[in-house]
Amino acid sequence: MGTFWKLSLYGILISLLASGLMACGGGGGGGGGSNADTSSETPTAATGQELFENRMSSGNTFACATCHALTEPASDGIRRPGHSLENVTRRPHYKNGQLTAMLDAVNSCLSEWMNAPTWTEDNTDWQTLFSWFDDQATVTAGEADPVPIQIVDPPTDLSGGDATAGQTLFNSSCVVCHGENGVGTERAPQVGGLGLSSELVGRRVRTSGRVDSGVYEGLTGGIMPFWGADRISDDELRDLTAYLALTGENATTAFDSSTSSSDSTCTSNHSRVGQTAELSTFSHNVSGTAEIVDDCTITIRNFNYDGGGIVVEIYGGTDGEYNPPTGFSISGDLKDTLFENESLTLTLPTGVTLDDFNGISVWCVAVGVSFGDGLFQ
Ligand code: HEC
Ligand code: HEC
Repeated sequence: MGTFWKLSLYGILISLLASGLMACGGGGGGGGGSNADTSSETPTAATGQELFENRMSSGNTFACATCHALTEPASDGIRRPGHSLENVTRRPHYKNGQLTAMLDAVNSCLSEWMNAPTWTEDNTDWQTLFSWFDDQATVTAGEADPVPIQIVDPPTDLSGGDATAGQTLFNSSCVVCHGENGVGTERAPQVGGLGLSSELVGRRVRTSGRVDSGVYEGLTGGIMPFWGADRISDDELRDLTAYLALTGENATTAFDSSTSSSDSTCTSNHSRVGQTAELSTFSHNVSGTAEIVDDCTITIRNFNYDGGGIVVEIYGGTDGEYNPPTGFSISGDLKDTLFENESLTLTLPTGVTLDDFNGISVWCVAVGVSFGDGLFQ
C-alpha cells in the first residue's frame, strides 16, 4: 500500500514537472521552444560514456557520474552518494524494490536529482546509455544483487569525531561536488572552514533531497543527495562533522591547495566582487543574503524558500526589472526544493558578466512575478 502510494505520487511528480516545463515557454533561453507533446529530453547523439559522465544539456550541474561510480572501488578513488551502477541492467528491481523498470529508476534521478527532462523507452539517449551499461554487465539478467537504500536520521550525539580523518574522507567523497577542502565548485557551495554546526552537517548528509520525493521517504529538503547508512557510517559522519566545525586555516592546512579542483578558473577582478543584496520577502517565505563571490559566482547564504510556485529560478536583473529580456536565469528550476537557512551557490551562465545585472530575484518564470529580490550594494 505504501509502495502504491509512492508510485502514484511519482506519477504526479512527473506530470507536474511536465506541465512546469510547458509553462516555462521561452523563459530560460535554449530548450522549451518545441510544441511536441512530450516532456522527454531531446536526444543528443552522445556515446553512453558521455551520457554517463557529462551533465544533461538541460538540467543542473550534476552528471550521473557525480553521484554513481561504474564499479567500486571507483577508478578515481572517490566514494559517491549513490551505489555503483555495476550490473545495473541485470538487477531484479530498483530503489528498494519500488520500481521494476530501470528506466523508471533513471527517470527518478533525472527529475529529482538532475532537474532534467525524463526519457521515454524510444529515446535514443536512453537506449545508448542502457546498451553501454548492459555491454559491461558480468552476470545474467535478474542475477545482480539489488542494492539497499538506507535513509536514516543522523545520531543525536555527533561529538567525538576525528577532524583529520574527516578531512581525508571529505577529500575522497564530498570533494566531487564541494571541491578539495570544501572550497566550493560549480556544483555546490563552500562548506570548508566555515565552522558549520554538527546539526546542519548531520541533517544534510543523512536526509538531503526533495521532501516530496516520489521514491525516498524521510528527506528534509535541498538538492544535495543523501548518503545512506551503508555509504557513510555514523562514525565517519562524526569525523566529517569534526572537520567541518573547523574555521579558517585549521580547515585547509593538511592539504596542498594547489591540487584543488579545476573548476575555479574564475577571476576576481570586478569592482563589485564582495557586494551583497538582501532578498526581500514577497511570497513563499523567501529571504537570504546574496553575495558576489568572484567574477562568475554568487552565493546566497541563509537562503529560505518553501519550494512553492511553478518553474522558479534565480534571475539576474537591472534596477528591479526581472522580466526578460532585462532579466535572465542564473539557476535551474528550484521549485519543490525546500531551503531552510541554507547556502545556494550559482555560477553565471557563459557570456554573462557582472556588468549585465545589478539585482537578483527568486523569480517565478511561469507567471513572471518576483517571490523576493534585492539590489547589490
Ligand atoms: C545527485 C546525485 C544523483 C545523480 C546525479 C544521479 N543519481 Fe542515480 N541515484 C542517486 C541516489 C542517492 C540513489 C539511491 C541510492 C542508490 O541506489 O545508490 C540513486 C539510485 C539510482 C538507481 C537505482 C539503483 C538501484 O539498484 O536501486 C539507478 C538505476 C540510478 N540511480 C541511475 C542513475 C543514472 C543513469 C543517472 C544519470 C542519468 C543518475 N542515476 C544520476 C543519486 C543520483
Ligand atoms: C552531488 C553533489 C554533492 C555531494 C556529493 C555532496 N554535496 Fe553537500 N551540498 C550540495 C549542494 C548542491 C548543496 C547546496 C544546496 C542544497 O542545500 O542542497 C550542499 C550543501 C551542503 C551543506 C549545507 C551548507 C550550508 O551552508 O547550508 C553541507 C553541510 C554539506 N553539503 C555537506 C556535505 C558533505 C559532508 C558531503 C560528503 C559526505 C557532501 N555535502 C556531499 C551538493 C553535494
